[in-house]
Amino acid sequence: MPIPGSETIDLRSDTKTQPDAEMRLAMSKAEVGDDKSGEDPTVRRLEEMSAEILGREAGLFVVSGTMGNLVAIKSQTRPGQEIICERQAHIYLWEGGGISALCGLLPRTVPGVNGVMNPAHVEAAISDGSNVHVGPTGLIELETTHNMAGGVALPVEHIHQICDLAHRHDLPVHLDGARIFNAAVALGVDPEELAKPVDTVQFCFSKGLGAPIGSMICGDRGLIEECRRVRNIVGGALRQVGVIAAAAIVALESRNRLHEDHENARRIAMQLHDLPGIHVDLATVQSNIVNLTVEREDIDADSLCRALETYQILATPRDDTRIRLVTHRQVTADDTARVCAALEEVLA
Ligand SMILES: Cc1ncc(COP(=O)(O)O)c(C=O)c1O
Repeated sequence: MPIPGSETIDLRSDTKTQPDAEMRLAMSKAEVGDDKSGEDPTVRRLEEMSAEILGREAGLFVVSGTMGNLVAIKSQTRPGQEIICERQAHIYLWEGGGISALCGLLPRTVPGVNGVMNPAHVEAAISDGSNVHVGPTGLIELETTHNMAGGVALPVEHIHQICDLAHRHDLPVHLDGARIFNAAVALGVDPEELAKPVDTVQFCFSKGLGAPIGSMICGDRGLIEECRRVRNIVGGALRQVGVIAAAAIVALESRNRLHEDHENARRIAMQLHDLPGIHVDLATVQSNIVNLTVEREDIDADSLCRALETYQILATPRDDTRIRLVTHRQVTADDTARVCAALEEVLA
């Protein structure tokens, strides 16, 4: 794996960001305490800020998005139940099977269009437990922005529709909002609108927001207390973790800059769209992710990424033909021009 240098443009993921000077300063000055007993003032502040921004009663700091999803889902289900999620959901494809290994859940997937499931298909997938051959549904999971769909933001009405039908069936909804602030910016809505109807929401500080570590679960106070108990069970209760939470506070306060990443992604997508041999579905470029398809016989996604490395540009092949490019706070508008010029040269 290459070690990126200062001239490198790293488009592999928005998890590749480096903490900036303001974050490092905040970390060095953070007031800390034993968070396992709820005594870390910086963590408490971060939890309160997060809950307030999302219009929820309480928040719980966890180390990663994977842990946030796991703890929130485990807190609302019991082993042997089914969990309904989109067929390309991150919890289903990329979290090591944790929902089955650690929550004892059987995923029942529903294929979506650009990550958006048809509510009728979701409702048809619900099992009320009356059929002894089928595990009863325990929870419905949504993801926004949808990573594998290329950063698509679920429409607000869609989240409401799924929550309404879930609640009609007495089922909770967990939102994997790893990039919820990107979704809010893409839709031009207050993040509260996305987080209000669900039972729990998880979001990451370590993606577009640019902090080095951390995620947050938000929801009603009683449920968050249950999540706190489950976090302890999985070894996720930490001690003087305010040193990390301090960087997350700086990241959260800078969330309004995310539109710059979206503009940069759009800039790349628009230029590549006109490039022979490359296909970009512009409809899916709504946030900071650009999925491009290489439509050439003589070069595949992997060799194109290796060619880009010689220009100090890093990108991830998703399969033989597709490449994912992700913009973030360390990718500038000038960098996007460099990326497009390099791709033009490689493909010429
Ligand atoms: C949509 C989504 N959910 C959850 C995660 C997991 O986050 P983490 O890598 O912090 O565990 C990711 C990571 O990329 C993600 O894209």
